[in-house]
Amino acid sequence: MKGIPGAIALAPGAGPPNLAQHRISEAVPAMFLVYLSRMVCAPEAVPQIVATARAHNAKAGVTGLLLNDRRHFLQVLEGPQRAIADTLLRIACDPRHADLTILVSEPTEARLFTRWTMASQPFADKRSTLAGFVATLADLDRGARLPRLQEFALSQCPPPAGPAEGAA
Ligand SMILES: Cc1cc2nc3c(=O)[nH]c(=O)nc-3n(C[C@H](O)[C@H](O)[C@H](O)COP(=O)(O)O)c2cc1C
Repeated sequence: MKGIPGAIALAPGAGPPNLAQHRISEAVPAMFLVYLSRMVCAPEAVPQIVATARAHNAKAGVTGLLLNDRRHFLQVLEGPQRAIADTLLRIACDPRHADLTILVSEPTEARLFTRWTMASQPFADKRSTLAGFVATLADLDRGARLPRLQEFALSQCPPPAGPAEGAA
């Protein structure tokens, strides 16, 4: 995918509610934080993690994406700085994962996941792993890391419901 539009409104499908209901403006400047952590729980635990995350995030104005490849989590958190800090503090203490490493934490003009209090997707690239992807970031300078992570996150988010625009 080329270029990162400022804000991507994904079709909600059967996913979480449109955040407009929670008075979250797409224009509000937000922090964009991504971390990698080692899974210490079974993949079967993920739906419960996501359900809790969505309930909290809807109240806190946090949006994002949670990927797992059965070994690692890679999570994107977007939202007001204070809400991100509070959420991360809780997440960091969670015994269902370990070795949490923040890959990027920067202000962003617009969110990528405006309609997802927490999108969730298994990472299913047979040629790579989440840790493998993260290792490739080491070759990038700091300025290139944020756009690369945004591009990656968008490429991994759940597909919108219905056929893509322009699909044959
Ligand atoms: C990989 C992972 C991602 C999580 N993501 C979130 C999140 O986005 N928001 C959130 O509030 N809690 C998230 N949690 C859950 C928190 O760590 C914590 O268990 C939860 O916020 C506590 O909620 P409770 O006090 O209602 O039980 C996550 C946990 C894990 C293991």
